[in-house]
Amino acid sequence: MPFYITTPIYYVNARPHLGHAYTTIVADVVRRFHSMRQTEVFFLTGTDEHGDKVVRAAHKENMTPRVYVDAISRLFRDLWPELNVQPDRFIRTTDADHMAVVTQVLQKIYDAGDIYFSEYEGLYCFGCERFYGERELVDGKCPDHETAPEPIQEANYFFRMSRYQDWLIEHIQNHPDFIRPERYRNEVLSFLREPLGDLCISRPKTRLNWGITLPFDPNYVTYVWFDALLNYVSGLGYPDGERFRTFWPAAEHIVAKDILKPHGIYWPTMLKAAGIPVYQHLNVHGYWNVEQSKMSKSLGNVVEPLQLKTTYGVDAFRYFLIREMTFGLDSNFSETAMVQRINADLANDLGNLFSRVVSMTHKYFDGIVPEADPEVARQYSLGLGADAQRTIAAYERAMMAFELQRAVAAVWDFIGQMNKAIDVSAPWELAKKKTTRKQLQAVICSLLKGLRLIAGLIYPIMPETAARMQKHLGLDPDAPFYFLEELQKWQHIPAGTPLPKTVMLFPRIETAAPPAAPAADSVQPTPATEIKPEITLDDLRRIDLRVATVLNAEPVPKAKKLLKLEIDLGERRTIVAGIAEHYTPESLIGRQVIIVANLRPAKLMGVISQGMLLAAGQEAGPVLIMPDQPVPPGTALR
Ligand code: ME8
Repeated sequence: MPFYITTPIYYVNARPHLGHAYTTIVADVVRRFHSMRQTEVFFLTGTDEHGDKVVRAAHKENMTPRVYVDAISRLFRDLWPELNVQPDRFIRTTDADHMAVVTQVLQKIYDAGDIYFSEYEGLYCFGCERFYGERELVDGKCPDHETAPEPIQEANYFFRMSRYQDWLIEHIQNHPDFIRPERYRNEVLSFLREPLGDLCISRPKTRLNWGITLPFDPNYVTYVWFDALLNYVSGLGYPDGERFRTFWPAAEHIVAKDILKPHGIYWPTMLKAAGIPVYQHLNVHGYWNVEQSKMSKSLGNVVEPLQLKTTYGVDAFRYFLIREMTFGLDSNFSETAMVQRINADLANDLGNLFSRVVSMTHKYFDGIVPEADPEVARQYSLGLGADAQRTIAAYERAMMAFELQRAVAAVWDFIGQMNKAIDVSAPWELAKKKTTRKQLQAVICSLLKGLRLIAGLIYPIMPETAARMQKHLGLDPDAPFYFLEELQKWQHIPAGTPLPKTVMLFPRIETAAPPAAPAADSVQPTPATEIKPEITLDDLRRIDLRVATVLNAEPVPKAKKLLKLEIDLGERRTIVAGIAEHYTPESLIGRQVIIVANLRPAKLMGVISQGMLLAAGQEAGPVLIMPDQPVPPGTALR
């Protein structure tokens, strides 16, 4: 079954930013994953270039719309290769083939009687380029632009969207994952509980002429959404193109929640009216917020993706975005969180594992992959074969369901299992005796197989790292990826393969935070048996103690003593505390606690703890230290 993946086509009224980069990287990850399933894939992205917004942006720059859209569209097109994003087509709504399809579909729907002409008076937001109903306004203002929409009266063309309301409700009910995750499906169903009006799909040329002329009235251009949404079919050569026939039945759209309504309601009803089958799934993700505020072009706190990929590398940037955001929910973006992830997950977990195993192969076998005796290998497989199959299954399941962060987590669980396998099998002990040489060979072979699997599975997210790992495992670095089927075979790297000297995949990023004891030790409140040596006031000042409010608390799976706390410390953080045997999660929510805010983050049972909770270390169990009266979260202790 082929696979077709799309991103929104981005408005060219501003430069590309982190949000655009995220959606497009997600699409690229999914594209690469489907290639691993031996699926024929088509990936479409592009730019949305008509409409008021673009005209106004062009005027602001003293440019004609044509010159302006060419310049900004190029910024998007040039960014993708820099992020290792490889679309099959970059479509522009000013492309001639797209414009022809829009004209054709408009005519088709008009001929079928689903477009009519009517006088209309309504409240129009110029920022959104649409009319607002009174009920949609907040204090009489557009919720996005916070400006009062202006009353406008004009005659326009309308698409009879209301005719398809019942059909759409039924379709969503019969296809439970048509819009996913579920929260967005519910949101669309709740819109649909109210009567669906008809959609105004034209703009008089007297007001706007940067658009596609209606084929049945030269005095009007098409409303920007009616134009833009059709890119998903025009990009494939609708109606007669071979690509359209192959890929359209497998259409997967990715959008953020901001454009749920046009994609969840306008688009399926348009398709239905045009006699085109609807897409398979609408995959909706949340918003990246920068420093707690919604990132938007107007707020000016837009993170330049290019800057971060240059600072930390494209793979680390892609990894962070995919791992940090739970697909469907909002996430906060911070450079600090990114550095923590790079250090904990990439430098520490993955990087150390890789260099440990490759170094041992050099140390014990002169860098040549050893032969594994099949009998001994069965005994000394360290259970990794079964772990590998479980990992592949969980990874595939998560990728198919667009739960990308889960797919990554499955790989990192496997990395944890590999690290444990090294500790349990202690190759350095096996290396001490001649009699355990075969066991040592078997262990190293299993570990190398594990690295090969990891290199295969991280390919969609970190293609460059996958290729580097492959090269250093003596595999063909020019083979861009493995098929999943290949990985499932869990094969040995051929004995006799020479391995290049080990490399550091991800150097640790040193942060300004002072060195501190690892949190793994410090979460266990220990009774103070002795008074510690004297320190200076300066020593004390290096410790950043702050008041925090507990927002949420939950047990850490498989860890009897640990609770995972979401805290508000002026910023939102996660910490892990060893208090589960003495405090229930519910008893903590809403309470204020004291946190060591600048303790170096540490990973505890797979959770990164970004600070430490202060408690009195009683024999009978820890007793939390709390402020005497409420204080704003983030207040420093003096
Ligand atoms: O809406 N977090 O274009 P647009 C996550 N042209 N994703 C974000 C984001 C954020 N803070 N900000 C933007 C349009 N995005 C129309 C689409 S499609 C037929 C026409 C991403 O430039 C996300 O994918 O405003 C969002 O849906 C899209 O950019 C909006 O891009």
